[in-house]
Amino acid sequence: MKYPKNICLLLIFAMLFSIATQQVYAKDYVIGEHKVPVTKPDPASTYVGSEKCKTCHMEKYNDWKTSGHPYKLNTPAEEQAFNSPPIPAPDGYTYNDIYLVIGGWGWKSRYMDINGYIITKTGANRDKNGSNQYNIATKQWVDYKPGQTLKFDCGNCHTTGYSLAGNKDNKKGIVGTWEEKSIGCEACHGPGSVHVAKGGGKGVGIIHNESAAVCGACHTRGADDTKIIAKDGKFIDHHEQYPELLNSPHKGLNCVQCHDPHKGTHNGQTNPTEGASIKAQCSTCHAQQDADFTGSTMQKAGVECADCHMPDTGESAVGDAAKFKGDIATHLFKINTDPNAKFFDDAGKFANGYLTLDWVCLNCHNDENKAWAGQYAKGIHKFVKAEATATAKPAPTPKTPAFEALLAISALLVAVLVRRR
Ligand code: HEC
Ligand code: HEC
Ligand code: HEC
Ligand code: HEC
Ligand code: HEC
Ligand code: HEC
Ligand code: HEC
Ligand code: HEC
Repeated sequence: MKYPKNICLLLIFAMLFSIATQQVYAKDYVIGEHKVPVTKPDPASTYVGSEKCKTCHMEKYNDWKTSGHPYKLNTPAEEQAFNSPPIPAPDGYTYNDIYLVIGGWGWKSRYMDINGYIITKTGANRDKNGSNQYNIATKQWVDYKPGQTLKFDCGNCHTTGYSLAGNKDNKKGIVGTWEEKSIGCEACHGPGSVHVAKGGGKGVGIIHNESAAVCGACHTRGADDTKIIAKDGKFIDHHEQYPELLNSPHKGLNCVQCHDPHKGTHNGQTNPTEGASIKAQCSTCHAQQDADFTGSTMQKAGVECADCHMPDTGESAVGDAAKFKGDIATHLFKINTDPNAKFFDDAGKFANGYLTLDWVCLNCHNDENKAWAGQYAKGIHKFVKAEATATAKPAPTPKTPAFEALLAISALLVAVLVRRR
């Protein structure tokens, strides 16, 4: 009886010890939604940080600095230096009460308290649930999981050299640790110590991978990369560019055939980089459609390929589903011209993988409907508005007859009342 008990205790101690040492020493780096192990360019490679790459790759570094990738997590000081005017702290907090600002480059910001938890309660006494996410476009506070206790378990997509073990800076609210805040050079190129130690060079201790899957690690959502997950049955949720691409006619393309991965494209707060990263325009590969569209009524009015083929079907911060307007451009491209086609499946859980005419046309033509759009959709590139049809269209005066009818009825009522007297 005595021995087995001691052996049990010994075993338990041994186990605890090994777990503890694992947490301290084992750095199993993982990346992206599926937390897959990071591929090292060399078995000896460790992370050195983006600043180390700057010396020899100044141009790439400067480009990267204008993109959203380096601003995923910002210290209060960085935040206040980078956004002008700086994004405000939540109600009841000062920047001294904040460990890191999450995002705030393009769409929205959330905040970590001093212990690393995501702030979900605000107000002087921290007893008000919500008003914890700041939307840049509208300068408004909205609710993000109000009142919940939320750990920051987002490092797999928002940091570089992420490991699930431990807590960064011993903050209880943070799951895992990382080597560099935000998306540094080594998030895409792998840990670079060997490359740097050997003085750099092509194929020397560094990864050069142009596959869409590199970006898809983080620009995806959920277990299945081919499923496009809906947000409340109204929008496509954000960070789903990879599943969208895989469902699109461009599934054979890599992100970097259209994007310079070091440059940004979203029209951010202090980095107005809209379109900067786009190195191949639609016309580069679709010369025929470009020629067809040139000279059409809508082309002359300033409508562009992406307005119809990449409308904002995604929502990160601000959207109006009734107007078919989110804040993230889609990568579905293909338009289903059937006016009865549905964008989401019946349960509203997933997008069907093509664009429907409401999202394509009605976000500009607010007063029309899908049936109207369906009449024009086929052959739309060459569409030139016939002057005769345009003037023949009756003036939109639906309110007048109703108003006149109301007047007539009140006049009649008055007449009846007068007679009764
Ligand atoms: C989001 C992923 C990503 C990040 C972050 C990133 N790169 Fe790249 N980089 C790529 C990809 C993909 C390529 C290859 C395709 C291309 O050049 O467009 C590339 C190419 C390069 C090249 C080779 C260019 C050539 O013409 O051969 C260099 C050098 C480079 N990156 C340096 C850097 C440095 C330095 C940083 C950080 C300041 C950085 N990269 C950040 C993805 C990234
Ligand atoms: C001491 C200078 C030096 C430093 C520091 C350095 N590089 Fe390089 N790197 C080079 C040189 C030189 C090349 C080859 C350039 C060429 O042939 O065009 C290169 C090539 C590359 C390439 C292209 C590799 C290929 O096979 O196509 C990438 C990607 C790259 N570096 C990324 C990085 C990253 C990320 C860092 C920081 C971790 C970094 N470099 C730090 C000098 C350096
Ligand atoms: C699967 C990877 C992934 C995970 C997990 C993830 N995000 Fe993101 N997040 C992204 C990507 C990619 C973007 C930018 C592209 C987009 O929104 O379509 C983004 C954008 C954001 C933005 C907007 C940034 C800005 O500058 O406006 C915030 C804020 C944000 N995420 C917070 C979080 C928080 C908090 C968590 C954890 C609770 C989280 N994210 C989990 C990938 C991820
Ligand atoms: C380690 C995760 C990760 C990887 C890998 C990654 N991204 Fe991102 N990406 C993000 C996050 C997080 C954001 C949100 C950053 C922000 O706006 O604050 C983002 C934002 C963006 C944006 C919008 C902001 C901007 O700068 O315009 C573009 C475009 C983008 N990524 C393209 C790419 C491409 C192309 C690749 C592959 C070469 C890639 N990303 C790889 C995580 C990642
Ligand atoms: C790097 C080249 C390239 C660029 C840039 C490009 N495409 Fe494509 N596109 C292709 C290829 C390849 C296909 C698939 C083959 C095909 O069907 O022609 C395709 C297919 C398509 C299709 C489906 C064609 C069909 O017959 O159903 C649409 C729609 C489309 N692209 C729109 C666009 C738009 C809009 C842009 C700009 C935002 C664009 N493409 C940019 C190469 C490109
Ligand atoms: C006003 C909205 C609109 C604009 C702007 C627009 N397209 Fe389209 N495009 C459509 C519709 C709708 C279809 C489907 C037509 C069909 O099935 O007959 C389509 C089809 C396509 C296709 C599939 C092959 C084909 O010709 O049917 C390609 C490729 C394409 N567009 C590329 C482009 C490019 C490139 C531009 C910019 C030069 C552009 N589109 C501008 C609405 C638009
Ligand atoms: C056929 C070309 C093409 C391919 C392939 C492509 N993109 Fe894009 N992407 C664009 C264009 C064009 C825009 C700008 C759309 C606009 O602003 O209307 C864009 C915008 C974006 C944005 C910013 C969205 C916003 O609303 O601010 C992100 C993030 C992004 N792309 C990521 C990716 C990722 C990740 C991949 C690969 C999985 C990818 N893209 C593949 C052409 C492409
Ligand atoms: C980015 C905004 C935008 C999008 C998206 C758009 N249009 Fe237009 N459309 C315009 C503008 C601007 C005009 C020009 C108005 C004028 O000059 O009379 C126009 C004119 C028209 C006209 C002629 C005028 C009229 O009202 O009868 C038709 C028809 C039309 N669009 C159909 C479509 C269809 C179908 C789609 C989707 C496949 C579409 N548009 C997508 C902005 C847009």
